[in-house]
Amino acid sequence: MASLNKSNSLALISVLILSTIVGFLPVFVHAGVGFSAELIHRDSPESPFYDSTATSYSRLIAAAHRSYNRATYFREFMKQPIPPSKIFSSTASIKNNGDNIHSEILMNRTDYLLTIYMGSPVRKILAIPDTGSDLIWTQCKPCRECFQQSAPLFDPAASSTYKIVSCGTVPCSALPKSTCGRSGNQCEYNYIYGDGSFVDGFLSTETLSFDSDGGDQVRIPSILFGCTHHSRGMFQKTDTGLVGLGGGKLSLVRQLGSTIDGKFSYCLPSYSKNRTTSRFNFGTNAVVNGSGSVTTPLMAGYPDTLYFLMLEMISLDGHGEVAIKPSMPAAFPITKGNIIIDSGTTLTLVDDDTLRAVETMVASNVTLPRMNDTSGIFSLCFNFSGFVGNDVDAQFPHIKFHFSGGAVVVLRPYNAFVAVKEDTACLALVSRKDIGVNIYGSLAQQNFHIGYDLNAMRLSLKPADCANT
Ligand SMILES: *[C@@H]1O[C@H](CO)[C@@H](O)[C@H](O)[C@H]1NC(C)=O
Ligand SMILES: *[C@@H]1O[C@H](CO)[C@@H](O)[C@H](O)[C@H]1NC(C)=O
Ligand SMILES: *[C@@H]1O[C@H](CO)[C@@H](O)[C@H](O)[C@H]1NC(C)=O
Ligand SMILES: *[C@@H]1O[C@H](CO)[C@@H](O)[C@H](O)[C@H]1NC(C)=O
Ligand SMILES: *[C@@H]1O[C@H](CO)[C@@H](O)[C@H](O)[C@H]1NC(C)=O
Ligand SMILES: *[C@@H]1O[C@H](CO)[C@@H](O)[C@H](O)[C@H]1NC(C)=O
Repeated sequence: MASLNKSNSLALISVLILSTIVGFLPVFVHAGVGFSAELIHRDSPESPFYDSTATSYSRLIAAAHRSYNRATYFREFMKQPIPPSKIFSSTASIKNNGDNIHSEILMNRTDYLLTIYMGSPVRKILAIPDTGSDLIWTQCKPCRECFQQSAPLFDPAASSTYKIVSCGTVPCSALPKSTCGRSGNQCEYNYIYGDGSFVDGFLSTETLSFDSDGGDQVRIPSILFGCTHHSRGMFQKTDTGLVGLGGGKLSLVRQLGSTIDGKFSYCLPSYSKNRTTSRFNFGTNAVVNGSGSVTTPLMAGYPDTLYFLMLEMISLDGHGEVAIKPSMPAAFPITKGNIIIDSGTTLTLVDDDTLRAVETMVASNVTLPRMNDTSGIFSLCFNFSGFVGNDVDAQFPHIKFHFSGGAVVVLRPYNAFVAVKEDTACLALVSRKDIGVNIYGSLAQQNFHIGYDLNAMRLSLKPADCANT
């Protein structure tokens, strides 16, 4: 599904409309287990976010805005004061940073949704899976001044496995900021967004369940999550919560820890009108290796929630190469790596010098007529309306991203170009502007099986047909 022909031009936007599935499965478990879960793109018809009246162009523009919101959030997140322990030891945990904390929660800024089940008996939750944050949370009864959600609230009183975490405990100290609640003994969080949105609630434990290939649900007891009882801000009716998949202590992947041997993976498929499903894997299912796979180090950075890589160069065979600056201005000096890999950002963001040089390289290769993008988001666009067929694909080059450790990732045309209109395709690499944060976004990750190994601190990528694996 690599062609950019007209009937198929939405494929270019695949990221936007994409339907992915992540499958978490569960575990009660001993180490060595593997399981998977389902992921849905927020703009797919399967998603409650789906707006059938929105055009693909408006969806693309919305996705671009979300990409910038996301970059701004990462910058603010990186600006948090570094705890002294962090400066001397990269393995030290992050402690309470005081009042100046930004939320680890991102709403309206991510592209996928994940189905999980909470409690006993189970309640289905459609949550945002987020590699850029850690806390898992959902809105709970009673909810005082909460954002309106269409699904019923989670009712902790109706679950036999629900427990509130006490304050002063180790799990409670893993929150960036906590208080002792009104009762004086409950671990209460208050996350504030840069835009004034917030969520308040109690850190709790609950059994999470996931659908498994075998049909049985896998149940994972005592997972720390936030039961939100008070919220306000930029949330959507269809939101019910979030699943943090970052590298910090409270994330689902860190909590599963040795059970999944520090491994998880996902595969984001190209959009197709047919329902496409893809997997979010844990444990042994998440090993990405073999022919065609490449591996690059996950670099130490701050905060440890984010996944940093070192991008050394972008090249186009026969047309040159562009070296990438070794650091991001927004990153603290202890952060190694110069780009954040994030499944919740659609586009790839780089600095202006890099962008101009890559554009020059690409423009010297593509012979199609140039077009202007009226949204002002993309700066290199082409008219491909003369090519209605499989030969369209051949009009666009394969761009190579060279990560440290000799990992060369070849981006297919649908990874690097988006059809903003039925006859216009633009380079999907955009300026990071003055935000100062480089991001390797989800469009570039499409149709790669991407495996994270948090024990070995490395990331592996392998080309795959994500809709059929
Ligand atoms: C989501 O974000 C977009 C862009 O920032 C904004 O225009 C839109 O109103 C937001 N939607 C909701 C429901 O908050
Ligand atoms: C997928 O879509 C194509 C074209 O729309 C259709 O011919 C085909 O039957 C669909 N396949 C499935 C499994 O729905
Ligand atoms: C991939 O890794 C798995 C698990 O470590 C191993 O069993 C398998 O042989 C490896 N496959 C290849 C092709 O290296
Ligand atoms: C564009 O680059 C590709 C890959 O290097 C090459 O095969 C193709 O001939 C180039 N086309 C032009 C017009 O330079
Ligand atoms: C694109 O915009 C520039 C500057 O506004 C203009 O000079 C150029 O002719 C436009 N190109 C096309 C193909 O419309
Ligand atoms: C795009 O190219 C086609 C011919 O291939 C032409 O008819 C059309 O006017 C062009 N569109 C624009 C906006 O220049």
